[in-house]
Amino acid sequence: FKKISIGKNDKGLKLYDPGYLNTAPVRSTISYIDGDEGILRYRGYPIEELAQKSTYMEVAYLIILCLYTILFMKTFFVKFISFIRLIHVSVVYGNLPSENQLLDWEFAVSQHSAVPQGVLDIIHSMPHDAHPMGVLVNAMSALSVHHPDANPALRGLDVYNSKQVRDKQIARIIGKITTIAAAIYLRMAGRPPVLPSNQLSYTENFLYMLDSLGNRSYKPNPRLSRALDIIFILHAEHEMNCSTSAVRHLASSGVDVYTAVAGAVGALYGPLHGGANEAVLKMLSEIGTVDKIPEFIEGVKAKKRKLSGFGHRVYKNYDPRAKVLKRLAEEVFSIVGRDPLIEVAVALEKVALSDEFFIRRKLYPNVDFYSGLIYRAMGFPPEYFTILFAIPRMAGYLAHWRESLDDPDTKIMRPQQVYVGEWLRHYAPIKERT
Ligand code: ACO
Repeated sequence: FKKISIGKNDKGLKLYDPGYLNTAPVRSTISYIDGDEGILRYRGYPIEELAQKSTYMEVAYLIILCLYTILFMKTFFVKFISFIRLIHVSVVYGNLPSENQLLDWEFAVSQHSAVPQGVLDIIHSMPHDAHPMGVLVNAMSALSVHHPDANPALRGLDVYNSKQVRDKQIARIIGKITTIAAAIYLRMAGRPPVLPSNQLSYTENFLYMLDSLGNRSYKPNPRLSRALDIIFILHAEHEMNCSTSAVRHLASSGVDVYTAVAGAVGALYGPLHGGANEAVLKMLSEIGTVDKIPEFIEGVKAKKRKLSGFGHRVYKNYDPRAKVLKRLAEEVFSIVGRDPLIEVAVALEKVALSDEFFIRRKLYPNVDFYSGLIYRAMGFPPEYFTILFAIPRMAGYLAHWRESLDDPDTKIMRPQQVYVGEWLRHYAPIKERT
């Protein structure tokens, strides 16, 4: 871990590694990927098993490793007199929860689901046609000033390092992200925000806020909310991807978690990362029909454009999440009707997987190839797709943030550069410049 530099003029060892292809700046226990075999595991559990048997809340609990101290309030009504009891519960994260641990975790998250009015005002102050991801970056960053308890500049290092404060922030972000996302959606639809319901599961509550129109007895379709929950599980964590490494990068400076997560949402926004799900849908709509695929593929091979939803820095095999999503798309279509663009997607995949250009470069469908079709079938507009990626990825961001704070090897992230510019020049007055 030491910079190697022997002697005065020795600048030490430096690796020129654009895009960090071969650089591992952290050690982690959260998720494991074998890109050649198409394997993804969260804390050792295969993603396929979790998608089939688990829930997003359980998975979030599993991956956010920390000693979690829930400070929650229970209100008892005894003979018309109410009083508040504070109960501390310590829970060790990193394993699947017991029944009671899960209940406590869900309770803590739902207790934090209300969003400060100032954050809602920011969402509503944005231009009506603002991209939802641009709005989300602002809203997440605004949480920082509404909850300054983690900011070392404001409160001092002792509070910043307190596990209780950190853990409250974890529950806060997981609790508030769906309410913020719903407020952004409702604003796009010109509808007022709906208060969260603590009678529903995490994913049901999200769909409730989107679709209930404030009718408290509304219950979302259980099969659709299960489908979305599976999508949330698949998107929860993916080791050092661009946005998660942004969290680690920002957090290494000691900045508060809301600002770190806002930076990560910014990275996720890009079309080469989380924004690819929106780009896929636009691409499939542009292609339109199966007979247009050969012409499109020729354009990709001529490097006029990329095949969105294909290729991955780590997977040189089929992305295991894409396999689950392909099956899930059929399940969702059986509820809401078949999207004709699925035929284009399936045919496009078939053509690409048998073409030498894609075979040689080991380009396979990634998580974004089929997710957009499911979102569209569920009624979401394409600009909103990446928000549906950001919601569940909060668990991964927070797990990495937590892990980085507890890792004694964590240092401020400060890569080097290879300087290739002018060596030494002297200032010339403006009239003497040529
Ligand atoms: N379509 C066409 N060609 C591609 C694609 C693609 N989707 N992806 C990679 N290639 C080509 C590159 O042009 C390059 O070709 P070359 O060797 O002739 O120069 C080769 O495959 C290697 O690609 P790189 O860009 O070097 O791979 P890298 O690991 O840097 O990029 C990335 C990975 C960004 C995901 C890339 O595959 C891509 O742009 N895919 C499309 C966007 C996308 O779907 N992003 C979502 C990824 S999943 C996620 O972030 C959640």
